[in-house]
Amino acid sequence: MSVDLIETETAKAFSHTTPLFNVADKVIAITGGASGIGLATATLLAAQGAKVAIMDLNKTHLETAAATIKAAGGTVMATVVNVRDAAQVDAWIADVVATFGKLDGAANLAGVIPKSINIDRVEDLKDEDWKFVLDVNITGVMHCLRAQIREMKKKGSIVNAASIAGLGGFAKNAAYTVSKHGVIGLTKSAAKEVADRGIRVNCIAP
Ligand SMILES: NC(=O)c1ccc[n+]([C@@H]2O[C@H](COP(=O)([O-])OP(=O)(O)OC[C@H]3O[C@@H](n4cnc5c(N)ncnc54)[C@H](O)[C@@H]3O)[C@@H](O)[C@H]2O)c1
Repeated sequence: MSVDLIETETAKAFSHTTPLFNVADKVIAITGGASGIGLATATLLAAQGAKVAIMDLNKTHLETAAATIKAAGGTVMATVVNVRDAAQVDAWIADVVATFGKLDGAANLAGVIPKSINIDRVEDLKDEDWKFVLDVNITGVMHCLRAQIREMKKKGSIVNAASIAGLGGFAKNAAYTVSKHGVIGLTKSAAKEVADRGIRVNCIAP
């Protein structure tokens, strides 16, 4: 039986409630900012006064995202970056600090799903598919986290995108599952290293 929640009072209350964050004038770097969770995060934070630096590999979607945030009155800089390329990531974070003067927070949301998802078992995995997913989802997050922590001398907050696939085993989903387990391990390790500098590192697992 399906239950339609759309017209319930609870659903209406949620849909009319925008969560409030104390982010006015905070500078927040967001990867994968051209779509999905990254764009929603950038839009919400910009609407509440944060200066958002969005980056993505998809130039067209990135330009549309930046224009939309700007048109709504937000402060945004947009940069085409490939998270797989450490030099591009380092240059992006340096540019964010040169433009806005500091880095207060980051959301590392760029991620990919392999072509083989729900198809290939471990015995069928293709090397290039495996490498692509791990390069973006785990090495890419490491490149971003490393650059961001280097800039956050003291105090800050970083959120990485893991997944429910980072919390258990999933058949025909090994590459993505491994990458998201990796994000959780990376997040926990970094959090222990920088807690004494007042930097929080967390991840979401939708
Ligand atoms: N949406 C979900 O239900 C869900 C569930 C679990 C985990 N996640 C994770 O949350 C994150 C965001 O998911 P989403 O649904 O918003 O995805 P999405 O596909 O809408 O957005 C991801 C963005 O990352 C960008 N990207 C991909 N490769 C890149 C690269 N090499 N360099 C820079 N940018 C790159 C894409 O162009 C895209 O704009 C991902 O890491 C995803 O694995 C999402």
